[in-house]
Amino acid sequence: MSDHLTIRRPDDWHLHLRDGAMLAAVLPETARHFARAIVMPNLVPPVVTGAEAAAYRDRIRAALPAGMVFEPLMTLYLTEGTDPEDVAAAHASGLIKAVKLYPAGATTNSASGVTDFNKIAAVLERMAEIGLPLCTHGEVTDADVDIFDREAVFIDRVLDPLRRAHPGLKVVMEHITTAQAAEYVRSVDTGLGATITTHHLVINRNHILVGGIKPHYYCLPVAKREEHRLALVAAATSGDPRFFLGTDSAPHIDALKEHACGCAGCFTATNTMSILAEVFEAESALDRLEGFTSLNGPAFYGMPANEARLTLIKGPPFHYPSKIDSADGPVTVFDPGFPLHWQVDD
Ligand code: DOR
Ligand code: ZN
Repeated sequence: MSDHLTIRRPDDWHLHLRDGAMLAAVLPETARHFARAIVMPNLVPPVVTGAEAAAYRDRIRAALPAGMVFEPLMTLYLTEGTDPEDVAAAHASGLIKAVKLYPAGATTNSASGVTDFNKIAAVLERMAEIGLPLCTHGEVTDADVDIFDREAVFIDRVLDPLRRAHPGLKVVMEHITTAQAAEYVRSVDTGLGATITTHHLVINRNHILVGGIKPHYYCLPVAKREEHRLALVAAATSGDPRFFLGTDSAPHIDALKEHACGCAGCFTATNTMSILAEVFEAESALDRLEGFTSLNGPAFYGMPANEARLTLIKGPPFHYPSKIDSADGPVTVFDPGFPLHWQVDD
């Protein structure tokens, strides 16, 4: 195997950029390697309307350091009060590329999410008509459902009925963490895709809990058993175009991660491409890395792949900074727990 790998420039199909000082700190970490990213709308308050998405896009553009090229792909946060016409207008103008469904209470800043799925039927109908994808945080929030089962139960109780009620709707199952989710994606020929994060290809639930609690490995959906991690690695490295990279890189300052009630999120923007190269090389699948990071996502979203290229070079173990600084405080970079040999030639 060669020690150089040149691929089309990757995109991140699920990213948290935040706002203000945190946006300024994390945006260069993504823009250094990625051409575009689907930007999550779970700000406080959330990005609900087209006007709010346009203003957020402008703040992202303004925060981009001179000389960097990056295109934010905006999303709207779906609420029970979302206006289908506002969504359609934001799509028609080219402003938004997806709408994000958070079940109320499922994760960080999801309080404005959906409780009664009947109340979003008209928006979903309009989205199906215009071909606008729905990105789902696929976890039920029922107190009686164990946190490790919440994704699998979501498929049966929410996602499958929702897809049957809106057969033309394009859906992305975001950050899948289970063999059941990968299997569900494979059971559908068109209109259903899934993003997989970098960290869920690397850690299982033992990494979070064995030998002391590791707050920087805690995210939602929480990592599951090893058999599920292996199913995700198999899906990501299979070449199946229904699976593509969405890092879910989600910065929180250390003070809020290392806390009695620690925030959910792993920050992987900085070292994702090097980690993925290790994961794919271990599966003898380096030739499929480009599909996962740079081809399958654009194809699903109906966009061209990037013309620019990115080169990874294999050498002695390479160390990324363990933290990046923001004006709000330091953010810990995800530690894969193994050496990284593939360095992005930037
Ligand atoms: O771990 C997570 N962090 N999962 C999410 O769904 C949200 C994200 C965040 O915004 O911090
Ligand atoms: Zn997310």
